[in-house]
Amino acid sequence: MTTAEDRAEAVALDAEDALSPFRLRFFLPQDRHGHAAIYFAGHSLGPQPFAARGAMEEALDEWAELGVAGWSDRKASWVTADATPAARSARLVGAHPSEVAVGGTLTGNLHTLLASFYRPTAARHAVLMEARPFPSDRYAVASHIDLHGYDARRSIVEAPSAAAGSASLDALLETLEREAHRLALVLVGAVNYLTGESFDPAPIVRTAHAHGVPVGVDAAHAVGNVPLSLHDAGVDFAAWCGYKYLNGGPGAPAGLFVHERHHLDEALPRLAGWWGHRLDDRFRMPPAFEPEAGAAGWQVSTPSVLALAPLSASLGLFEEAGLDAVRSKSVALTGYIERLVDRVLGDRVEIVTPRDPGSRGAQLSLRVRADLDTVFPRLVAADVVCDRREPDILRVAPAALFNTFDEGRRFVDRLAAAIG
Ligand SMILES: Cc1ncc(COP(=O)(O)O)c(C=O)c1O
Repeated sequence: MTTAEDRAEAVALDAEDALSPFRLRFFLPQDRHGHAAIYFAGHSLGPQPFAARGAMEEALDEWAELGVAGWSDRKASWVTADATPAARSARLVGAHPSEVAVGGTLTGNLHTLLASFYRPTAARHAVLMEARPFPSDRYAVASHIDLHGYDARRSIVEAPSAAAGSASLDALLETLEREAHRLALVLVGAVNYLTGESFDPAPIVRTAHAHGVPVGVDAAHAVGNVPLSLHDAGVDFAAWCGYKYLNGGPGAPAGLFVHERHHLDEALPRLAGWWGHRLDDRFRMPPAFEPEAGAAGWQVSTPSVLALAPLSASLGLFEEAGLDAVRSKSVALTGYIERLVDRVLGDRVEIVTPRDPGSRGAQLSLRVRADLDTVFPRLVAADVVCDRREPDILRVAPAALFNTFDEGRRFVDRLAAAIG
């Protein structure tokens, strides 16, 4: 168990934390005593910012007052409701404003982008992914391989998993070099959902491009969590969701990125829809599709104005806090919990996430050397909100905007008690 000195240290760290006032701007799920539960599930669904509720109410009022006129009303300006969240998202992912669009869903956006960027030939139709990619990405990639008439069972190349605790970027790069002759695409999670390992896309892009292979990034677990430089890294396309670290609400609109080098490439096929048609001509509804400039030209459908409102408000919190401040607290908080896990839990738990703070975000994936069927319900009963992934991994994500150092300390005590 932790000690009185640990408690004093945690309290002091929280007192020094410049981001601590942000916690007071979230609804945090309560424990049975009416206090905030230890909410370490921001990697799955971020909690609700107060501002999200206000923005949602405003959007509902506009709908009630204006009805369909909301599309043409200058103040409500639903037609450009995605502009602010797109600009805010672009800053978070290190993109030019024209390279980001917000709307749709993550897997839906991946499908749209795969339609453009997965251009298989008889000689090169394989897709390289990191070890254990998120299943939805694998399903999406497999479906495109099948659509093109190839066999997904042979054409998805998964880089081998590295030993726990060591970065698998090297394994990915080695596989890329070895398999490049048959690759049509690399699709990699910027932070792997299971291990929490973050990948710097830049070396992957350099190696892949040297072999003429485009690179896509799933940034679901990275956006709002680790710094990204999608433009400078030269990533060809990316997609992410709005409901994890961005705290945009369940099923929040997703984001997509297309590097500007592709914006004017007419040889690139795309799945078209009227929302991707030129904005200045969209409501004239001509029969021929002409894409809006930039990433916006990859949108297909009317965005959910109601869902954009809370996302935009939540992104406003990141603007206020600054991603640098979020990241530096995140590194400190994750490192703090890691040290306590090592000391208090010893070999009852193995930390699967890389030890190097530069190779991970806010997540620690813990392999628990005890029966999780017993341990996990005990943690739930102790008001810890995290998740488990079969067979033996606990994912805990202390998020800088709303978690505290003392929650980290109490979490370690509750896990120790749950393991027994
Ligand atoms: C890495 C990753 N990719 C894809 C998805 C699927 O997202 P969606 O259901 O919003 O399409 C998730 C969902 O958790 C995810 O974590």
